[in-house]
Amino acid sequence: MRLRGRKGIREELEQQQDIVVLDPRGYKGKWAQVFGNDRPLYIELGMGKGQFVSGMSFKHPACNFVGMDMYDELIRRASEKVRSIWSGTPEGEPANVRLALGNIESIEEFFAPGEVSRIYLNFSDPWPKKKHARRRLTHPRFLDKYCSLLNQQGEIHFKTDSRELFEFSLNAFAAKGLQMSNISLNLHKDGINEQHVMTEYESKFSKQGMPIYRCEVKIGEEALEAYHRTKMEEF
Ligand SMILES: C[S@@+](CC[C@H](N)C(=O)[O-])C[C@H]1O[C@@H](n2cnc3c(N)ncnc32)[C@H](O)[C@@H]1O
Repeated sequence: MRLRGRKGIREELEQQQDIVVLDPRGYKGKWAQVFGNDRPLYIELGMGKGQFVSGMSFKHPACNFVGMDMYDELIRRASEKVRSIWSGTPEGEPANVRLALGNIESIEEFFAPGEVSRIYLNFSDPWPKKKHARRRLTHPRFLDKYCSLLNQQGEIHFKTDSRELFEFSLNAFAAKGLQMSNISLNLHKDGINEQHVMTEYESKFSKQGMPIYRCEVKIGEEALEAYHRTKMEEF
């Protein structure tokens, strides 16, 4: 993502402590306190400009959302999006969403084991060169971290336009013995569902007619049980 940041962004973010978290290390194990309730915590890793996390927070008020990225400028843009989506509503305040500045490499410093119910990986950088494979956010070394943070309901929801990253990721999930479900090789082939919250990249690539690959990974025991129950009914 190309970024043209401007001066004074950090100061601007410091003024937005109601939704911006500049050092999420201080919040590890305390997200329920931050939100003032223990609703399920859903996090988007690499949220970009925040279209998805802001839309999801609005659509799902019974869940808490944290969008994370490593650039000040993206946190700033996401904060604008969150405020514009929530403005003019009776709630006015975006109570169930926070935007956190951090590098996913250190995710275990930001969330405690079992604190997270769902991880969204949307259009993660594909890192196409083999020598950079370790940087892919679905590399087994990241999956180990995610598995320890996710609780009994824990799931990963993954979307990408990159066939290569999708193949790599399915193999990584399989190698860890993780249960995949709802695999789609062309998520919007029957048209875009109005209910579906799109990310920036997803909107752009879908408009260009590119297939979007998606799958869910059930990690927590309750998520696995629920999955098997519905599958038995389906087949
Ligand atoms: C290709 S963009 C996708 C943005 C958004 N999820 C979307 O679908 O429109 C990938 C995003 O991940 C962020 N990112 C990549 N690696 C990261 C890391 N290690 N820690 C935090 N953010 C990261 C980038 O800054 C960028 O905003």
